[in-house]
Amino acid sequence: MKNYHVAIVGATGAVGAELLRVLERRSFPVASLRALSSARSAGKSVLFRGESIKVEELDENSFAKIDIAFFSAGGDVSRKFVPIARNAGAISIDNTSAFRIEPDVPLVIPEINGEDVKQHRGVIANPNCTTAVALMALYPLHRAFGVKRVFAASYQAVSGSGQRAIDELREQVAASAQDRQSTPQVYPHQIAFNVLPHVDTFLETGYTKEEMKFQNEGRKIMHLPEFRASITCVRVPVYRAHSVAVSAEFEREVSVEQAHEVLAKAPGLELVDQPNKSRYPMPLTVAGKDNCEVGRVRIDCAFDNGLSFWVSGDQLLKGAALNAVQIAELL
Ligand SMILES: NC(=O)c1ccc[n+]([C@@H]2O[C@H](COP(=O)([O-])OP(=O)(O)OC[C@H]3O[C@@H](n4cnc5c(N)ncnc54)[C@H](OP(=O)(O)O)[C@@H]3O)[C@@H](O)[C@H]2O)c1
Repeated sequence: MKNYHVAIVGATGAVGAELLRVLERRSFPVASLRALSSARSAGKSVLFRGESIKVEELDENSFAKIDIAFFSAGGDVSRKFVPIARNAGAISIDNTSAFRIEPDVPLVIPEINGEDVKQHRGVIANPNCTTAVALMALYPLHRAFGVKRVFAASYQAVSGSGQRAIDELREQVAASAQDRQSTPQVYPHQIAFNVLPHVDTFLETGYTKEEMKFQNEGRKIMHLPEFRASITCVRVPVYRAHSVAVSAEFEREVSVEQAHEVLAKAPGLELVDQPNKSRYPMPLTVAGKDNCEVGRVRIDCAFDNGLSFWVSGDQLLKGAALNAVQIAELL
């Protein structure tokens, strides 16, 4: 098997750290690894396969001899450096939203539209983390019943906003225990012991950018241009793993039994649905796990042909690093 020269742009961040672990854990055939960051972290080191790798500052020459470049350093960095990586001959797998909706850039969840990878022209986009977790359960149900529209609410962990947000929640929890004030830096309000109905920037419609990703990216990934989704995205004081409460309306008649059968067989998904035994998906039980979990499946009482369910998944894994490495494996 060929071994690949790999670069990670944003290697010191929350997603970058996870990318290093996933590449190692899945024995991805890495010939060499280049860890890239901003000037802030250049000179630090990261661990890969027991070896300490010096972090370099990202610049125009960072992609010489690189085969695969994983990008997780924000949209602006991707917009500037993905074309540079492409010119240097590398294929980019981008975790940011910079290219997701571009028509010539495949947006891929391997369990759903892995075939789309074949159409790439040097860059493949990784979906939004909440969208990825929700679609892992919605797509198999769509295959069985034909989804028309969805209403949903997300419960998003702070690690979705990166390492500084993890630190901010820790600090606010400690400050509260010590009865002292802590000024929020990442979020507009305290996140500890609070929930914020505000993820990403607001649009003129009143939705946030994050909220519109579910519909826009869902259409592209499921090849379903008529798909409609109205979601309220909420940040919760959870360190890791997003959850989404979904009510979905389908074309065909649904039953809980059939839905269970479909979900139990779906790749990358586990059915955890024994509410009478208090067994349902939770962030604490999916954190660190590759598979997403789905439960609380019931006939929706407001829709015809509707199902309500609850899905949880580790957004640093299925919503970012794991999905990106799965795409690299497909390549
Ligand atoms: N967190 C998630 O669950 C998640 C899921 C899906 C997608 N994403 C996306 O992935 C990206 C990274 O997220 P994250 O959570 O890992 O953020 P993070 O913890 O804040 O890490 C950001 C990384 O980007 C690097 N960076 C920032 N500015 C840079 C620049 N100008 N040049 C080079 N490197 C730069 C940082 O390096 P320094 O150490 O030098 O600052 C750090 O390594 C974001 O675009 C985010 O939307 C995140």
